[in-house]
Amino acid sequence: MIRSVVKGVGAYLPERIITNAEMATLVDTSDDWITARTGIKQRHIAAEGELTSDLGTAAAREALKNSGVHADEIDLIIVATATPDDTFPATATVIQAQLGIERGFAFDMQAVCSGFVYAVATADNFIKAGQAENVLVIGAETFSRILDWEDRTTAVLFGDGAGAIVMQKGEGDGTNKDRGVLTSHLHSDGRYRDKLYVDSGPSRGAVGHLRMEGKEVFRHAVVNIAEAIDEALDATGLEAKDIDWFVPHQANKRILDATAKRIGLKPESVVVTVAQHANTSAASVPLALDVAVKDGRIKQGDMVLLEAMGGGFTWGSALVRW
Ligand code: ACO
Repeated sequence: MIRSVVKGVGAYLPERIITNAEMATLVDTSDDWITARTGIKQRHIAAEGELTSDLGTAAAREALKNSGVHADEIDLIIVATATPDDTFPATATVIQAQLGIERGFAFDMQAVCSGFVYAVATADNFIKAGQAENVLVIGAETFSRILDWEDRTTAVLFGDGAGAIVMQKGEGDGTNKDRGVLTSHLHSDGRYRDKLYVDSGPSRGAVGHLRMEGKEVFRHAVVNIAEAIDEALDATGLEAKDIDWFVPHQANKRILDATAKRIGLKPESVVVTVAQHANTSAASVPLALDVAVKDGRIKQGDMVLLEAMGGGFTWGSALVRW
């Protein structure tokens, strides 16, 4: 049976850091409020002129190096982003050119914070369909560009960054022992558009700013995420105790704690990077993967559960044997 195996991870964070203390000089907030409500301590912010494609290219270069796969072998690039450089062409094709790749195909995936999980599932399906063998999956965002820097309820929550993985066609015997993506589950429900959205776009004639009903998003996030995790466990016959590492979308420490408790995941198995990165939307899961691989927590053979929820609403999970 064909399996999509993760061969390597990479990441990139812009140099500039805005701490909560500095944030308190920009909007009426405090380190205490941000820490208590979200767990966020700082966020990275892209420099002027530094684009989503620049962040994504840097992460992709590192993922290629760490995977031992040459850029010329890549036949598909998927970039999960809600903050593309331009309306078109796709940021994925910009990154393709920056990597010097002249073959294969590349496209963007727009599922906001769920984008990376959507992209992993999509890459897995292209590999299983025999249409790609080596896939670069990137989550890259510059949310600082769509924040309303006068709105303290949203400005404090987000940051910029990029993470990437290389997925490669492999073989397995169809059991949970196989390396690669074991199962993925995606959902969306557009009735919740107004809970989390950007208030303009190309068709409306402007870039727009992120708007959110935080409490409502929080309430739905815990329920939806738990549903997507249950599906992953049901599909594989695994239990919460079988998960070595839970790598969720990093929106808010309280959402992560509530989800882990609801599912019965071991608290020490939850990879948490929200304090350092804040919410980087589609980049948050690969950034967290990168941290946990580099510090030696995630090792080959481990069972890793990815999960995300974001605007739309969109949500989903992917279970991967590393
Ligand atoms: N600093 C200080 N005070 C603030 C700030 C701030 N940055 N933001 C809001 N407040 C104030 C509000 O004005 C309000 O004051 P009031 O009581 O005088 O009216 C008070 O704090 C409480 O505001 P709430 O919105 O009720 O605060 P809540 O406890 O719900 O926390 C938060 C807000 C952190 C946004 C929370 O709802 C949340 O985390 N929601 C999830 C949203 C999320 O993470 N979205 C990310 C994208 S979606 C995703 O990735 C899953």
